[in-house]
Amino acid sequence: MPKKRLLSGIRPTGSLHIGHYLGVLRNWAELQNEHECFYFIADWHTLTTKYKDTKDLPNDIIEVAKDIVSSGIDPNKCTLYVQSAIQEVAELHLLLSMVTYHNWVERDPTLKDMVRLLAEDEEKAKQEVTYGLLGYPVLMTADILSVLGEFVPVGRDQVAHLELSRDIARRFNFIYKTELFPEPKPLLTETPSVIGIDGRKMSKSLNNDIKIIDSPEETKKKVLQMITDPNKIKKTDAGDPAKCQVAYKHYEIFADKQTLSIVQDECRGAKIGCVDCKTRLAKIINESLVQVRNKRQNLKTDKEILETLNEGNKKARQVVKHTLEKVRDAMKLRNWN
Ligand code: TRP
Repeated sequence: MPKKRLLSGIRPTGSLHIGHYLGVLRNWAELQNEHECFYFIADWHTLTTKYKDTKDLPNDIIEVAKDIVSSGIDPNKCTLYVQSAIQEVAELHLLLSMVTYHNWVERDPTLKDMVRLLAEDEEKAKQEVTYGLLGYPVLMTADILSVLGEFVPVGRDQVAHLELSRDIARRFNFIYKTELFPEPKPLLTETPSVIGIDGRKMSKSLNNDIKIIDSPEETKKKVLQMITDPNKIKKTDAGDPAKCQVAYKHYEIFADKQTLSIVQDECRGAKIGCVDCKTRLAKIINESLVQVRNKRQNLKTDKEILETLNEGNKKARQVVKHTLEKVRDAMKLRNWN
């Protein structure tokens, strides 16, 4: 298979959790061996909703970069960079916004979901939408097209944005009679959806996440809080893994088949209590993170991480600058000295 050019980004929400690791980073690490990959930290995208409180952003970028590198993403095999370091991406966002119909953006269901999260009351939420948030999928399109990315490894929730990206790419090519832009396609990988320790979606903002950098003890403490089958109160009560809403779901993600059948047998047969069962689960989760956590601990200083990012920024900038020259040509804009 010829090498494909891939691009994907992640918002710097601070230290990442095991959902990011299983759903995004592990996949990125694998893809870098097969393809030409551009991975970046989408700090401008964070601003679309968190523009009022930016004080943690500089540090969050460093923490995310550390999580990325310790998860096996190798800056020598891919281009790892920071979105805001490539100013031409902002220029492309502006230029693409000219050919993007307002109602295309408004139809984007994922964006609608994001808007709903802004406030409890729907009317209030609508009033909170900034021009920048409306541009979220257009900015994503600029990210992708700035490196002429053909494939975009993302989760299902991002697919609607990519549909818009294809519409924009197609319309640009049509209007300016060019074949410059590919129509980027999602690269969906079936990844487990990881729920938080309280049974809701795992998320930093819900404070229900297990972080990559958590110590084994912290992890165990969190796992012990996981909800189990509400009918199994004592060790001698028989339980049902299907009704164990959080802990067993994590077993399914982290444990092998043999362990799963042992867990089922012990639970149904009232041979184990939930605390012991979750202690074992914590051990399994910790074991599967040992490598990443070790790497994270021995990782470079902040200064070195920043240097790594700067190297990546340089590589990305070269590619993006070249694309923008072509974009300006196509639009009959002068490439000023
Ligand atoms: N919106 C993506 C997310 O929240 C992050 C992102 C920004 C992205 N720009 C992108 C993903 C471009 C893929 C391609 O997960």
